Amino acid sequence: MMAQQKAYILSGLLIFILAGTAATRPQDGDDHYTNLKVLPKKISEGDMERAMYVFEKQLGVTCVYCHVPTKNEVPKRMDFASDEKPEKKIAREMLRMSIKMNKKYFGMSTIAEILNKPKVWCRTCHYGFPRPPGLK
Ligand code: HEC
Ligand code: HEC
Repeated sequence: MMAQQKAYILSGLLIFILAGTAATRPQDGDDHYTNLKVLPKKISEGDMERAMYVFEKQLGVTCVYCHVPTKNEVPKRMDFASDEKPEKKIAREMLRMSIKMNKKYFGMSTIAEILNKPKVWCRTCHYGFPRPPGLK
C-alpha cells in the first residue's frame, strides 16, 4: 500500500476515534460553547454530553452524522461548533420543536427538566433511526 494511502486511512481512523471518544468540552479555551442557539449557553459539560449521547442513541447515529472535523488543523479534531452539515441544522430545529412540545403540551418548564425527563423526545418519532421509519 502506498504511504499516502496509508496516511489517509490512518487519519480517517483517527477522526473516527476522535469523534467516538470526543469529550464535549467547550473548545474556545474560555469554558463556553460558542454556537448554541437552542440549548442554554451555560449548559454544563455533563449535561451537554448526555444531550448529545441521547441524540446518538435515539437516532442510531454517531457524532459525525451531524458534526464535521476541522479543515486546516493537523492533527484534525472535531469542529463541534460548525454548522456546515445540514443534518445539524435540521437537528437544531428538531430540538427546538421537541422542547416546545414538552413545554406547550406537557406543562414542563425548564430545559434542564426536559433534558432530564422529557415526555416527548427524538425517540418518540425516530425509534432509533435518523429518519422516522414509516415515512414515504
Ligand atoms: C443528530 C445530530 C447531532 C448528533 C448526532 C450530535 N450532535 Fe452535537 N450538536 C448538535 C446540535 C443541533 C448542536 C447545537 C445545539 C444548539 O444550537 O443549541 C450541537 C452542539 C454540540 C456541541 C457544542 C458546540 C459549540 O461550541 O457550540 C458539542 C461540543 C457537541 N455538539 C458535541 C457532540 C458530540 C461529542 C457528539 C457525539 C457523542 C454529538 N455532538 C452528536 C447535533 C448533534
Ligand atoms: C414529532 C416527531 C419528531 C420528533 C419528536 C423528532 N423528529 Fe426529527 N424528524 C421527524 C420527521 C417527520 C422527519 C422527516 C422530515 C422530512 O422528511 O421532511 C425528521 C427528520 C429529522 C432529521 C433529518 C433526517 C434526514 O435523513 O433527513 C434529523 C437530523 C432529525 N429529525 C433529528 C431529530 C432530533 C435530534 C430530535 C430530538 C431532539 C428529533 N429529530 C425529534 C419527526 C420528529
